[in-house]
Amino acid sequence: MSDTADTEQRGEAPVDEADGAPRRRVSRRSLLGWTGAGVALGAGAVGGGVAVASLPEQRSQPSSGGEIAFYGPHQAGISTPVQDRLHFAAFDVTTDSRDELIGVLKEWTAAAAAMTAGRDVGEGAVGGLAEAPPDDTGEALGLPPSRLTLTIGFGPTLFEKDGKDRFGLAKRRPEALVELPAFPGDKLDPARSGGDICVQACADDPQVAVHAIRNLARIGFGKVAVRWSQLGFGKTSSTTPDAQTPRNLMGFKDGTHNVAGTDTAALDKHVWAAPGDGQDWMTGGSYLVARRIRMHIETWDRTPLKEQEDIFGRDKGEGAPVGKRKERDEPNLKAMLPTAHVRLAHPDSNGGAMILRRGYSFTDGTDGLGRLEAGLFFLAYQRDVRKGFVPVQKRLAANDALNEYIQHVGSAVFACPPGVRKSGEWWGQALFGDKR
Ligand code: HEM
Repeated sequence: MSDTADTEQRGEAPVDEADGAPRRRVSRRSLLGWTGAGVALGAGAVGGGVAVASLPEQRSQPSSGGEIAFYGPHQAGISTPVQDRLHFAAFDVTTDSRDELIGVLKEWTAAAAAMTAGRDVGEGAVGGLAEAPPDDTGEALGLPPSRLTLTIGFGPTLFEKDGKDRFGLAKRRPEALVELPAFPGDKLDPARSGGDICVQACADDPQVAVHAIRNLARIGFGKVAVRWSQLGFGKTSSTTPDAQTPRNLMGFKDGTHNVAGTDTAALDKHVWAAPGDGQDWMTGGSYLVARRIRMHIETWDRTPLKEQEDIFGRDKGEGAPVGKRKERDEPNLKAMLPTAHVRLAHPDSNGGAMILRRGYSFTDGTDGLGRLEAGLFFLAYQRDVRKGFVPVQKRLAANDALNEYIQHVGSAVFACPPGVRKSGEWWGQALFGDKR
């Protein structure tokens, strides 16, 4: 045990060797503990000696403060109830060394386990050597975990790039991890597309999500580099049918008919890769399609209400399908226009195909022509991209009335491995052939 750890175990403040002054390591948990203590005491808790260490376990799990388990058979952030905010980053691997890449994944896993539990990375933001930059950047000090989830995915280029098997992974590329075909109307910006690795950070507090991505990028410095990233501010999908359905920037309820995070049968059928699907290392994982979809908001805002509703096939207020009264009423697809978004995207029009949508709204300022640079950052998880996103998007790209008001400007696809089951394991361990 290190001297510092030993001192801390005894409950004493560590002493700075340089000047002999006591230093206290402030973790987000301990800060939270103090905040919690204040609240508890203010609420009339008896006794002066509130045990700070026990508060995190005691505190209730409000949507803004809860902790989502990092360890488990599936990665969190897929079937997890959708958080309010997103910071998504796609990374290029810049090192040629397989060992260095593995090193990054190991460090990332430890950092992700800490941050999702509301702890600092490594020695923390203020607890390490005074002569070295802190392990943690510090902007999440005192903030609760905020239901932070970190979900990793591996892009096709990690397996093979320009015909080169960079990390000895080419044979392990899953067949389901296809490059997406070009769809009519796509106007993809290469600078906002692709990536060797992605990390999706979702949290109820944007500062917590941004802190997580920033610290992972910092850990990977010199070995991986952010290729592009996207902030999202309003969830546009729900995996919790009992909760109020959120609205997208077009003002419509979005996520009404989605795979529910509690529907294990649907998740097994449509979302989780199963034994026999292909590469064994993906069992329990899922495939992610990310599309940056720009909305021509100004044109949309000049479109009459009836036309807007016809475009989706649902009404704007309630979200009910054409001819029905309530949002959850069974849609009569034939009552909708043949070009209606819902009619075209519905599983009945696509041989039963279903995807779990988990997207966010974005606004990245204006585009220089006075138009909002806004839209939907579409995220969809599925068991096989060839049977999920691809057929649905083919149909939509060819016929959807919505196409007049949107444009797909960024695109990426990733294989998201199963969850890390316990401490000591790391993201992608099975992919790299390590025995668990
Ligand atoms: C900016 C682009 C988009 C907007 C504004 C949008 C909006 C909507 C809205 C309002 C609904 C109805 C409510 C619901 O059931 O969730 C819906 C349904 C749906 N959308 Fe989209 N969507 C967009 C792009 C896409 C894309 C690219 C796909 C997949 C390729 C997709 C797939 C679906 C599916 C599968 C449904 C459910 C249909 C059903 O089963 O009833 N959407 N979308």
